[in-house]
Amino acid sequence: MSSLLIHNIGMLVTPEGTEARRGVEQGKVRVLEHAWIYAENGEIISCGDRNMPITMGQKLDAGGRLVTPGLVDAHTHLIFGGWRQNELAMKLRNVPYLDILAAGGGILSTVKATRAATEDELTAKAAAALDEMLAFGTTTCEAKSGYGLEKEEELKQLRVIKRLNKEHPMDLVPTFMGAHALPPEFKENREGYLKLLCEEMIPAAAKQKLAKFCDVFCETGVFTAEESRRILQAGLDNGLTPKIHADEIDAIGGSQLAGEIGAISAEHLIVCPDEGIERLAEGGTVACLLPATSFYLNSTYAPARRMIEAGVPVALASDYNPGSCPCLNLQLVMNIACLKYRLTPEEVLTGVTLNAAAAVGMADKVGSIDRAKQADLVIWDAPDLNYLCYRLGSNLAHTVIKKGEICHG
Ligand code: NIG
Ligand code: FE
Repeated sequence: MSSLLIHNIGMLVTPEGTEARRGVEQGKVRVLEHAWIYAENGEIISCGDRNMPITMGQKLDAGGRLVTPGLVDAHTHLIFGGWRQNELAMKLRNVPYLDILAAGGGILSTVKATRAATEDELTAKAAAALDEMLAFGTTTCEAKSGYGLEKEEELKQLRVIKRLNKEHPMDLVPTFMGAHALPPEFKENREGYLKLLCEEMIPAAAKQKLAKFCDVFCETGVFTAEESRRILQAGLDNGLTPKIHADEIDAIGGSQLAGEIGAISAEHLIVCPDEGIERLAEGGTVACLLPATSFYLNSTYAPARRMIEAGVPVALASDYNPGSCPCLNLQLVMNIACLKYRLTPEEVLTGVTLNAAAAVGMADKVGSIDRAKQADLVIWDAPDLNYLCYRLGSNLAHTVIKKGEICHG
């Protein structure tokens, strides 16, 4: 048996429970001062601010610092070839994101680079990104395919995720996103690609147990709400839980569809209408908001406060991808969520831990410092949560612990 006792914690802050927290509950966190956490075999056994257990196992002095659960990044496009720094000049000339895509750039240029890369190359590149994420305090992350856009290429990306889940300390949750764009080969044959997605690609990803979720980019010029419904229904028929990129640039019915179809999460929601918020609340769907993408696209910000008021649980994620958000730092996401969404540090912490865990179906295992959850923890170079949300641009993760093992710091 291996055990770990973290002591001399100046402040322990965590949401509690195994479900997403909504409404005023999103802002209620447990705070313990002068605290300790005891873990055995990678699992949290107990924590408190008195009666510290006496143990012969490993001890770690937190030096009076802040400790929170490991962060959960509920939305990344982790697996891709190349980068897109050439788009920066176009962005600065105000060429819209969807125009770059329609001209065969954007996602489609990453599709070319990803198809050209081998599984080993994609694995090495994503592993380096995961190392960086861990160093910033992320201990669980969702990862999407979506830069293959043909059966074998999408499966290739999903196999990379599976391999990294085994080889890297990070927990990865895989999402099939073959419906990320219409591939150039099907430019004149939408129906052909929809059929391929629903009848071959989704069943193959599900049968090979390479994906847990099915995601679709429901957007002007990409997939309509009706097409998205068909794709997500095919996912459901094959045992894949729906997720949806909705209302990122235009509101074309994605958030309404998310609630109606019972999606576990809806992503972006930058221009989400009131009716969409209602449907999300009714459907119990987590709003997975990506504030660094709003920053990067120089767009407006999702109505996070209205969502919390309507009882929609809000999660916050990076959207790490080579186009709309080449950023994997959840600390920056926390800063932007405070400053632009006007969420409190407590609401933000719940958004990057427990609610993010719920958005990827992992809230029974990670996302809070609760008995029987994984000992995924971050010791921060910060005295309290306010400080963590207030400092900008530094990496404040001092020690990152995954399943009771120190993996950074
Ligand atoms: O979530 N919106 C669609 N997908 C990504 C962007 C992908 C890309 O530009 O490569 C997003 O923003
Ligand atoms: Fe995305």
